[in-house]
Amino acid sequence: MFYALPQSPQLFKQLLMISGLDRYYQIVKCFRDEDLRADRQPEFTQIDTELSFVEIDDVLTLMEEMFSYIFKEVKGIEIKTPFPRFSYRESMERFGTDKPDIRYSLELRDISDLVLNGGFKVFTETLSRGGIVKGINAKGLGGISRKEIDDLTEMVKEFGANGLAWIKVTEKFESPITKFFDENILKSISNRLEAKKEDMLFFVADTPEITANTLGRLREELAKRMGLIDRNQFKFAWIVDFPLLEFNSDENRLEPMHHPFTSPMDEDIEKLFSVDINNLELQTSDFRLLTSVRAKAYDIVLNGHEIGGGSIRIHRKEIQNKMFELLNISKDEAEAKFGFLLDALEYGAPPHGGIAFGLDRLVMIMAGTDSIRDVIAFPKTQKAVCLLTESPSQVNQEQLKELHIKLDIPKII
Ligand code: AMO
Ligand code: AMP
Repeated sequence: MFYALPQSPQLFKQLLMISGLDRYYQIVKCFRDEDLRADRQPEFTQIDTELSFVEIDDVLTLMEEMFSYIFKEVKGIEIKTPFPRFSYRESMERFGTDKPDIRYSLELRDISDLVLNGGFKVFTETLSRGGIVKGINAKGLGGISRKEIDDLTEMVKEFGANGLAWIKVTEKFESPITKFFDENILKSISNRLEAKKEDMLFFVADTPEITANTLGRLREELAKRMGLIDRNQFKFAWIVDFPLLEFNSDENRLEPMHHPFTSPMDEDIEKLFSVDINNLELQTSDFRLLTSVRAKAYDIVLNGHEIGGGSIRIHRKEIQNKMFELLNISKDEAEAKFGFLLDALEYGAPPHGGIAFGLDRLVMIMAGTDSIRDVIAFPKTQKAVCLLTESPSQVNQEQLKELHIKLDIPKII
């Protein structure tokens, strides 16, 4: 038999709330098996909280007070509250990411309507397939070399775009694509991007997701190259109004964006009950309605890093059951996996919610470094290896026997 994490460890926080313990606060060691990055380690530390009888604003305000206290005490810096809030959608549209670094502007602008009738096939064909065309103005970067443009083009290709179009603004507009547009269109594009002489405009045409992702990455890269990143500035933001459900088109089913215990917004609950998910003839419009339901979830972002996230949880059994149904989790499966939670919800659970933030990530940012490994003693490498103890490593037969583990791995020739 195996121990397995049922879903999300915050289920236990929820049970504490339901049992009447109305405030929980803990510094916890977490272990996660996921792709490692500069700000991720397999072993890390969270400040984990849960509260009863709260709504979104209570959690956000409490956290803002805590962060401004920490910055005052540790760095002597006054952090202005409340922190700006962006809906998930606004953040994706303006910054191409749900963890925007708002120390600099370089915002994305949609120019789809302006290039719809131009002669540049890459743009018009993308639009006719339901894609979009967006641009970014690298202010004052007009002097950029061809080599650098090629480098940036390679970069966006790595992130999935097919290419990177550009316009250099001098006395006129210089670019291999200007021939496809008349002067008026070029002027409108330039106005939309608030371009002035010496500016460099970049464009990507693709699906909304790829366009956002590649331009979001380009935005960060340009900020680095243009020296716009001030290490002494600390800019917090909340991301709110996440979708509750996402549509997985490969598997033709709905998935939770966070986890199945996240509460929908009160005003959107009706939508969840308006679609019969067991109807085999579900229309695209049904899925569109369901994915328009917003969640009571929030992320806190600092200088382009997600440093925390949480949600108000579902505290009513009929809504929890509805969520399982929409996610195609049968009654039996729900009972087997989450019976303890469903039982607890019977007893009249208080509205509750919480948040956890990454302590190491916060320390990393406060210490002004780019790698979480700089602030963790004995960190693992990007490949999750401890170089000091050379772990993980092979074990001998006796040890496997003691653990009742039998290996059946074909020999690699
Ligand atoms: P979440 O998964 O968003 O939420 O994690 C919260 C925060 O923990 C930090 N973090 C990490 N830091 C370093 N290395 C990692 N591998 C890593 N993974 C996460 C991030 C992140 O924002 N149970 C929910 C919270 C809740 O709903 O109350 C949770 O863990 O800074
Ligand atoms: P081409 O006509 O393929 O030579 O492309 C002309 C310019 O458009 C080049 O600078 C390409 O990098 C750029 N380009 C190609 N595809 C895209 C795209 N999907 N989005 C933005 N620019 C593109």
